[in-house]
Amino acid sequence: MERIQVANVRDLPEKIGKSMKIGNFDLALFKLSNGDIRAVENKCPHKGGMLSQGLVSGDYVFCPLHDWKICMKDGEAQAPDQGCVKTFKVEIQDKNVYVYV
Ligand code: FES
Repeated sequence: MERIQVANVRDLPEKIGKSMKIGNFDLALFKLSNGDIRAVENKCPHKGGMLSQGLVSGDYVFCPLHDWKICMKDGEAQAPDQGCVKTFKVEIQDKNVYVYV
């Protein structure tokens, strides 16, 4: 697994997703209102909507296409919908954001 610097905490607006390509992965990066940073695959398990464009509420992002609710901690879609996106471990060091891919 590789640790890659992807952003600085100061440059991430709260609750606005940022899309980026890291290696073979399309990532959606989010700074939550509690300051936590989450990184998930930027592809909804339903029909591939870009989660980086979704609305954020707590630990969840709502897909912009059909409103599935995806938990950014474990990647699981909330019932009755079924599916899962890949989640990535995030580390913050000296305000730098690192993602493990
Ligand atoms: S593509 Fe995300 S809810 Fe349909």
